[in-house]
Amino acid sequence: MPAWRDLSPQQVADIYAWLTTLRTKADNKALSTASIAQGAELFANNCTSCHGVNGDGQGPAAALYKPAPFDFLHQQPDAQEIDRVLRQGVPGTAMPPFPTMSAAQRAALASYVRSLHQPEKAANTHP
Ligand code: HEC
Repeated sequence: MPAWRDLSPQQVADIYAWLTTLRTKADNKALSTASIAQGAELFANNCTSCHGVNGDGQGPAAALYKPAPFDFLHQQPDAQEIDRVLRQGVPGTAMPPFPTMSAAQRAALASYVRSLHQPEKAANTHP
């Protein structure tokens, strides 16, 4: 590992930019393969009837509900919002609370749900 003073200002700037990207990704997605896998399993067991197997909001029960279940491919609630919704549900909608879930399970679900988001499909600026 070279000392910092051996790097050009451009190299330092590049490294800084790269580190910033990593930090943003980690903050946004709380990425950990283990928790995403756990979230995927919880999602399959508790959420797909409404939100769909792939999270597109088209589960077998979805047509029964207005407002319709969220489509996580195109909507990405932040992790705090997902945590709150899992504790409280969304009153006045079909979205139920899951009071028996632990904080770790809610965090795993939040990571998984957020990982489904596909912004490049919504706005593809690089054809
Ligand atoms: C009985 C159907 C049903 C089930 C089961 C269900 N949802 Fe929902 N969910 C909904 C509906 C309907 C909405 C839309 C509510 C709204 O428009 O605010 C919703 C919305 C949400 C939202 C966004 C809420 C907001 O306003 O930001 C999240 C996050 C969510 N669901 C996560 C989950 C997760 C995770 C599970 C499984 C643990 C789950 N849901 C299970 C029906 C369901």
